[in-house]
Amino acid sequence: MIEKKFGIIGKPLSHSLSPILHNYWFKKYNISANYSLIEIEPSEIEGVIKKIRNNELHGINVTVPYKQFVIPFLDLIIDDAKETLSVNTISLNEEGKVVGNNTDVYGIENGFVKKLKNQNLKDNKVIILGAGGVAPSVVYALFNKGVKKIFISNRTHKKAEDIKRRYPFVEIIKWENIDEEIKNMDIIINATSLGLENENNFKQEFKHTKPNLVYYDIIYNPKETAMIKKFKKKGIKTFNGLEMFIYQGQKSFSLWNKLNPELDEELIQKIASELK
Ligand code: ATR
Repeated sequence: MIEKKFGIIGKPLSHSLSPILHNYWFKKYNISANYSLIEIEPSEIEGVIKKIRNNELHGINVTVPYKQFVIPFLDLIIDDAKETLSVNTISLNEEGKVVGNNTDVYGIENGFVKKLKNQNLKDNKVIILGAGGVAPSVVYALFNKGVKKIFISNRTHKKAEDIKRRYPFVEIIKWENIDEEIKNMDIIINATSLGLENENNFKQEFKHTKPNLVYYDIIYNPKETAMIKKFKKKGIKTFNGLEMFIYQGQKSFSLWNKLNPELDEELIQKIASELK
């Protein structure tokens, strides 16, 4: 039996635990396949997509910074990828077309939004920090849950405007004004890559926050970013992106293999033991 090949494209990729997740499931379900890290430059994307077209690669995930960048190389985008113009899962369909999908929205809905079921989400003020590849998925997942007051702030203002053009109900807060506005927020979602390097590179102080604030970091590795540590110290409820990561992976796996893999305890332990 030939071994199918899967992988994740992005740069940097050293933090990614996707190979552990998918290779665990391949073994568990006796699927002859391997999932690897494919760290590439933008100029190499076209070649990778060609491999999918030629059946040399059977599915890829896409991460920082290529979730939007990859779209012009695809034949079509569907479902949540179409809603968000953000692609994290690619495969070849039965008609031989290279299709981009998005499983981040599913990951956010199941990994984070579900945890807040006791919270009056609809009336909460939620600020998203960052307007990069994953930000549209956060906005769309919140919108699906009926959150009405969604704010966004990004170092590069223009990218926040791009989000607003797609989702006009989102309000922009200037990056310089975060510390002023933060006192009104019920939930902060960090969708920037700040924190990946295990240090607090936010210039903002986030001093005057509501006592019942919830802080959510999309980053899952390190499991406690400097911001999570900072908020925890203040007694604020925090979540990392681990569950979102596992759920998006589960949906990608099921799209590729037509099999919904189980999130068993051994897997969760295995992932947890790999985290920084
Ligand atoms: P992702 O797929 O994780 O969203 P991305 O598309 O590369 O990755 O986006 C990274 C996000 O982190 C962006 O919002 C980026 O802000 P800019 O649009 O201004 O680049 C944000 N980010 C990265 N480094 C940052 C820094 N040093 N200060 C502030 N924001 C930063």
